[in-house]
Amino acid sequence: MSVSPVEFDAVDIIRLKRDGHELSTEQIDWLIAAYARGFVGDEQMAALAMAIFLNGMQRREIKDLTLAMIASGQTMSFETLARRTVDKHSTGGVGDKVTLPLAPLVASFGVAVPQLSGRGLGHTGGTLDKLESIPGWQANITPERMFEILAEVGAVVCAAGSGLAPADGKLYALRDITGTVESIPLIASSIMSKKIAEGTAALVLDVKFGSGAFLPDIARGRELAQTMVALGEDAGVATSAFLTNMTVPLGRAIGNANEVRESLEVLAGGGPADVVELTLTLAREMLRLAGQPDADVASALRDGRAMDTWRRMIRAQGGDPDAALPIARHTHTVVADRSGVLVEQKALPFGVAAWRLGAGRARRQDSVQHAAGIDLHAKPGEGVVAGQPLFTLSADEPERFARALAAVEGGYRIGKVGDAVLDGGPLVAQRIGA
Ligand code: URA
Repeated sequence: MSVSPVEFDAVDIIRLKRDGHELSTEQIDWLIAAYARGFVGDEQMAALAMAIFLNGMQRREIKDLTLAMIASGQTMSFETLARRTVDKHSTGGVGDKVTLPLAPLVASFGVAVPQLSGRGLGHTGGTLDKLESIPGWQANITPERMFEILAEVGAVVCAAGSGLAPADGKLYALRDITGTVESIPLIASSIMSKKIAEGTAALVLDVKFGSGAFLPDIARGRELAQTMVALGEDAGVATSAFLTNMTVPLGRAIGNANEVRESLEVLAGGGPADVVELTLTLAREMLRLAGQPDADVASALRDGRAMDTWRRMIRAQGGDPDAALPIARHTHTVVADRSGVLVEQKALPFGVAAWRLGAGRARRQDSVQHAAGIDLHAKPGEGVVAGQPLFTLSADEPERFARALAAVEGGYRIGKVGDAVLDGGPLVAQRIGA
């Protein structure tokens, strides 16, 4: 879109939203194009983001915002691939490594899974950070190589180039530093602009709720899921969503290399029950949207088909699937101070602790320590005896333990047999979509 600097006035548009009015399609198109080209400055966009945060947007406005962000950059198309494409997106959580077993599992059924992923920021981990703990593995590949891997292997997990929805890239960085991340119109348009621009034919969304999620309240999670499903369907992408529980960390590993280890257990037919359940639920839905409603995904984990695809996928991006994963120089194990039942293990404190150990980054330019993280030896509902290990912290720098231990203080509790287990209920609460 060509942008005339005089067609609209950013201040008028900010005032309209500040006072609770709807913005027109033309105003939104102009504003996003002008922001992408620098006619509208960060300070004006920050004011508008706060006005949207406070006053919300109508469905039509959210759709226009999404389309305007897509129009700010390039789009991709997988139509020339001989395989059907289906993608998955998670709103992020503690210990959420599901993309790692899921992408090769779904690809083992002949479907293409293009996973353009991000890096972790704050207490939620990033898929690329986890995979980079595998020696040699490269996140940055050209679009041509991505197509080749999709055609040959079926699954690729790589860094999203800056060409897709660049206006969102600018706006997301701004929201991060202006307290405007947790807004449904802004999250929905941000996620869906990238997914629609990527050109996938189908998309399954994993929208988290609970203490470790972006939006802890399930009703707000549901609204976000419904908004994103509607945006996908409007754009011709077959989209559905699951609301899944992030009250407790997912699985027993939180970090990077240890999450790869746990993913390998799942790919070998084992692994923690919750990681397996979520992997199978999302795989069945992805394959249903790709036209294979009866695919037997559980047997593809048991009989090694998913593991074979994983090994090919890792090799295709320069990684050595047989290389040893990094191990931290120091560990610190916390033991149960009494016997009973572990009744609480809150995702957020454990996510923050893993981050403080070095598994996550505080600023985009920071690097992560791949061996840092937490291994949980007990999960809520399990009996424990005094002196038994509850969890182990791993770090390359032992001075990190004190702040990590401070983060988990009050984040877990041993109760008596019969006490309520505060795990937030079932892992998969609801499915949304056609
Ligand atoms: N992830 C995104 O890409 N955008 C958001 O706004 C939140 C999470």
